[in-house]
Amino acid sequence: MAWEIAIHPAPPRETPIPWESLPFGRIFGQHMALAEYREGRWQQARIEPFHDLTLPPGTSALHYGQALFEGMKAYRRTDGTRFVFRLRDHWERLNRSAARLTMPEVPYELFSELLQTLLHREENFFPPSLQQALYIRPVYFATDPWLGVRPSETYLLLIYVTPVGPYYSGEVRAFVEPELTRAAIGGTGAIKAAGNYAAALLSTKKAQAVGCSVSLWLDATHRELIEEFSTMNAFFVEKGGRLLTPPLERGTILAGITRDTILFLAAKVGLEVEERELSIYEITEGIAQGRITEVFGTGTAATIMPVRALYFAGKFWTLPSENPVAQKLAQAYRALLSGDIPAPAGWIHRV
Ligand code: COI
Repeated sequence: MAWEIAIHPAPPRETPIPWESLPFGRIFGQHMALAEYREGRWQQARIEPFHDLTLPPGTSALHYGQALFEGMKAYRRTDGTRFVFRLRDHWERLNRSAARLTMPEVPYELFSELLQTLLHREENFFPPSLQQALYIRPVYFATDPWLGVRPSETYLLLIYVTPVGPYYSGEVRAFVEPELTRAAIGGTGAIKAAGNYAAALLSTKKAQAVGCSVSLWLDATHRELIEEFSTMNAFFVEKGGRLLTPPLERGTILAGITRDTILFLAAKVGLEVEERELSIYEITEGIAQGRITEVFGTGTAATIMPVRALYFAGKFWTLPSENPVAQKLAQAYRALLSGDIPAPAGWIHRV
């Protein structure tokens, strides 16, 4: 190992983990991994018992939002092998987010060794089946205690784990946001800036008021082109099975790693995909006329989540209750995790 990682072990968890009814992100591991950036270099890589943080009131991330996060999943196969899914891709995205927010690059060796060491300590938090996962949350933020608006000179990287079941329980309906926007060209829409999620909360509140659990964002210029759901990338299925999804080129949607995995799996299971700009009118008319037969979201937390209806222009545009294409992709996703579908090099990072 290139990085010296100090280990301060915590005692084992005493209360049993409710594997059959895991909530999302409420049960935490016993440890967390930390590293600090100071004096122009990363230092103090360590594993500590999971604990609260003490921060000065001036902590710049709290004021000016130099803060980002990632979400990854690790699994245990039936033969007992454990792995992180697409670790390097998540690390690359973390650094793309960091570059946009003028935060220092996190070296791959530091990131992967910290995580590896943490996961060895958290062995007992790996769920017993591929139906659940060990969700990994890296969070990276500015820690200078001064109030000047400028890039911080000090940072903290934290990584911790939470065993998780499904992100959504029950049917998901999406509120097409007609007014607020998530990202404009040139903004931070393509990265996992913490502030992107804060900016989405008001729309989620509006969504809940009409019986939806997520928002579907439209483009900031015309409020017409579909961007993504508030927690997931968006896919639409045409009658006959072709997938449609908005492209990444405008830089206003997250380059989802699950999105990319779905594009890979679609080819494997013989589904055509078109990445192109999609008008909300094209989609709602398509639903009304039976040309769009399924809508689903993809994300690390949500995996593949069928969306039953879109709320737009004052009414629900409801989809058929069957989701054969989403189901086929979910099955292929499980086959990829179990090893029945061979993964491209580097996607399965053994720990
Ligand atoms: C993830 O899918 O991992 C995310 O970070 C999205 C968040 C809504 C939990």
